[in-house]
Amino acid sequence: MEKVLKKETNFRNVLMEDTEILEEKVRGFRELMTLYECAMLEINTKLDVLNKELTVKHGRNPFEYITCRLKSPQSIAQKMERYGVELTLDNIEKHLNDIAGIRVICSFPDDIYRLAEYLERQDDIKIIQTKDYIKNPKDNGYRSLHLIVEVPIFLSDHKKLMRVEVQFRTIAMDFWASLEHKLKYKKEIADAERISEELFYCAELISQLDGRMQQIRTKIEAKGQEVG
Ligand code: GTP
Ligand code: MG
Repeated sequence: MEKVLKKETNFRNVLMEDTEILEEKVRGFRELMTLYECAMLEINTKLDVLNKELTVKHGRNPFEYITCRLKSPQSIAQKMERYGVELTLDNIEKHLNDIAGIRVICSFPDDIYRLAEYLERQDDIKIIQTKDYIKNPKDNGYRSLHLIVEVPIFLSDHKKLMRVEVQFRTIAMDFWASLEHKLKYKKEIADAERISEELFYCAELISQLDGRMQQIRTKIEAKGQEVG
């Protein structure tokens, strides 16, 4: 009887220890996600400020809207597995650049470059990586400008640098990417190759359309200045 009780107590102790370790890990993960969320808010605010300033200056908003997302724990685990890296908090910070993601949807391509440049010029922001899929579209036709930026987060007793992925696209590029995303993640689509070809063709059309809409806007603005 005494033996059984001792065994049970040991088991309970081990269980308590395991639970404490697990709770500590969950707390650490939550804290890290909160830091990414703060970094995302920081960039979001910077873009909002630029939007307000440029709207007043030029009478035209440089972006239509922004969406933000934090990568889900499941996607984080999957990506770490894909990279063949052990799932620890340090490794998550070290290897993943897209835990915090911001998508900036603009009306015209030149707004994308203007906004990205203004963001880059801010002295507390460091650009870690630029992928210009507008000047160099992906083989499937995908277009967007991707920046990985590092932004400081000021905590109660220290400063921490966090990375955020910022994707800039036009409304039309975003429309295309949403549809193409469906093709990528839907398995067993009949005629997938043909659909890919059509999507590629649409991406070219969209690029021409974005360019022409921008030209029209420039003409309207020039006319406005003549009249004004
Ligand atoms: P991921 O492992 O997907 O994060 O790619 P990566 O680390 O090589 O980065 P990249 O800058 O190429 O892509 C980052 C993100 O851009 C993706 O997670 C998507 O949101 C978007 N993206 C990139 N390529 C495509 C594409 O071909 N189609 C669509 N719809 N989205 C894309
Ligand atoms: Mg990604």
